[in-house]
Amino acid sequence: MTRNILVTSALPYTNGAIHLGHLLEHIQTDIWVRFQRLHGNNCIYVSADDTHGTGTMLNAERAGVTPEALIETMHKEHIRDFAGFGVEHDNYHSTHSEENRALSEMIFNRLKDKGLIHSKDVAQLYDPVRGMFLADRFVKGECPRCGAPDQYGDNCDACSATYDATELGSPRSLVSDAEPLVKHSEHYFFDLPKFTDMLKAWTSSGAVQPEVVNKLAEWLDGGLRSWDISRDAPYFGFLIPGTEDKYFYVWMDAPIGYMASFQNLANRREDLDFDAFWGAAAEGKTELHHFIGKDIVNFHTLFWPAVLQASGLRKPTRIHTHGFITVNGVKMSKSRGTFIQASTYLKHLHPECLRYYYATKLNGRVDDYDINLEDFVQRVNADLVGKVVNIASRCAGLISSQFEGALAAHLEDEALWRQFAAARGRIAEWYEAGQVSRVMREVLALADLANQYITKQEPWQRIKQADGRDQAHSVCSQGLNLFRILAVYLTPVLPAMSKAAADFLGVRPFTWADLDKPLLGERINAYRPLFTRMRKKDVDDLVEASKEAEDGKDQGEGSDEPISIDHFNKVKLKVARVVEAALIAEADKLLRLTLDTGDGQRQVLAGIRSAYRPEELAGRLVVVVANLAPRKTRFGISEGMVLAAGPGGEDIFLLSPDSGAQAGMDVR
Ligand code: MSP
Ligand code: ZN
Repeated sequence: MTRNILVTSALPYTNGAIHLGHLLEHIQTDIWVRFQRLHGNNCIYVSADDTHGTGTMLNAERAGVTPEALIETMHKEHIRDFAGFGVEHDNYHSTHSEENRALSEMIFNRLKDKGLIHSKDVAQLYDPVRGMFLADRFVKGECPRCGAPDQYGDNCDACSATYDATELGSPRSLVSDAEPLVKHSEHYFFDLPKFTDMLKAWTSSGAVQPEVVNKLAEWLDGGLRSWDISRDAPYFGFLIPGTEDKYFYVWMDAPIGYMASFQNLANRREDLDFDAFWGAAAEGKTELHHFIGKDIVNFHTLFWPAVLQASGLRKPTRIHTHGFITVNGVKMSKSRGTFIQASTYLKHLHPECLRYYYATKLNGRVDDYDINLEDFVQRVNADLVGKVVNIASRCAGLISSQFEGALAAHLEDEALWRQFAAARGRIAEWYEAGQVSRVMREVLALADLANQYITKQEPWQRIKQADGRDQAHSVCSQGLNLFRILAVYLTPVLPAMSKAAADFLGVRPFTWADLDKPLLGERINAYRPLFTRMRKKDVDDLVEASKEAEDGKDQGEGSDEPISIDHFNKVKLKVARVVEAALIAEADKLLRLTLDTGDGQRQVLAGIRSAYRPEELAGRLVVVVANLAPRKTRFGISEGMVLAAGPGGEDIFLLSPDSGAQAGMDVR
């Protein structure tokens, strides 16, 4: 029976570039989806960008653009990056969409009508300078248990204590550096504990992996608490219906983004019906699979199924949870050059090398996977090029030079062919269970058999013998038929290689039915290399380039990672005279400065409006970063950056007026 399956990958945050970790998830999902299709099932794959939250608001502000503009730029980049790795989403939408707003409101209203939302007064740290409540990762202070300094608002790195941000000693806001106050406000809570029994039953029904069941049992047995789903203004998100200043917490509307992405697709596709996949009656009829990382398990296996059930919708069929990526045994690191972004990777290496390497790791469990860069090159070259593709290249030559590109009319060893095709059952089971590494091992074991067969039969010797011609023909045809089976098995992992192999054999893209019978008597095309060897040098260059990316544009503000003196020397600081300063109508933090840098004038947008009035600035000297690449903002081009000191607000200080400096001087 054909299954109807909806599949999702977790929604990457809008705030950062796609990197190896996101790729593990989307490639893993894509392999599963491609397998389902190859196997004849209907499978829809959606994802989206996760756009809401304080982070988006602050990042946009820093970049001097609107959150919407930031979201749009990142959305384009994310789509481009995934496409570069052959990840084929049917739709890649955004949580900042009308579909998502409507669905989030609908779900909230249903929960409210059922009496599952109550409000409660919450005391929270508040930044008096910025006028905003502070999420845990925007405050640091001393651990209330061990006194370690510089700890975030939720737990301590030094002693692993978990606590409430209001318990921190000497807290300070990471947004403005101000000392936060404790302020009260009303929050909305979803009655999660009501769903404890349902969740116990659902989590032990096979919907999650065994390791995850154990983890969840800790929470479920320890007693669930109501879930805070609101955040106070200022916040970037959706207003909660019936309020003026309360927003849905980003994790409330993010999973609804799966639904919104599907809805957006269904609006364009007549064959897709929203209720068939999301209505309560869909359970048991259609399937819903979420692929996620282990850090977001509680959101997907507790809150999300409870919210779905509570609002009269279907629950997920299965949550596929994966572990984290490390590189050369340690966490991805910017200074080591192992925090590798998708776009940087694609400048140096072929996407299917990574797809293959991930495939050799995936085991269906929640384990972390290490990318060892030496091993990476080795595996691709030894396995894919040396074993699999080698079968085709060994057999193709004789077929085209001696037999006009036509395959023999019968197989030389039919039993061997059947042995290869008979692996289809277990291979399908392993793909289904996410045990892609077993598939890869099986394919390699079969490739070894094929290569041994060819070596033993020596077609290139037989062809020289007067009566060996037919034998050589059927041996090479046998080899290509064995290769064809392996190419079918590899199709979900290596779609481009598979396509090239099908072209070479002169057939349509592979399907599972290609395993039913061999390809005989057909004409094939000239062989062109199906996969090229990886060079260690390209990997080294990738690592080097990833270091640069971090030193340059991607280093987060306030990063503690040291930069080299060479790097610092690249920054050209100059004294400039303010020729003119002007307000910008729509930007309440910025001033438009016309600066004289001694060698000409330029325009710089500076975030100093809260501290200086434009008329005070004309004639003043400032220090500018003179060789910063011009940036396009919503308010025009900014050609440099003005340096200032201070915590922000009214306390921002430019160069002292009587410093004796002159426009055009270098700053050392
Ligand atoms: N926006 C949320 C997900 C919302 S889903 C309704 C989020 N975004 S994320 O960008 O931080 O992560 C997206 C996915 O990538 C998560 O499943 C996360 O586990 C995964 N990974 C992010 N870094 C990772 C590694 N280093 N390794 C493997 N996967 C990791 O969480
Ligand atoms: Zn501590």
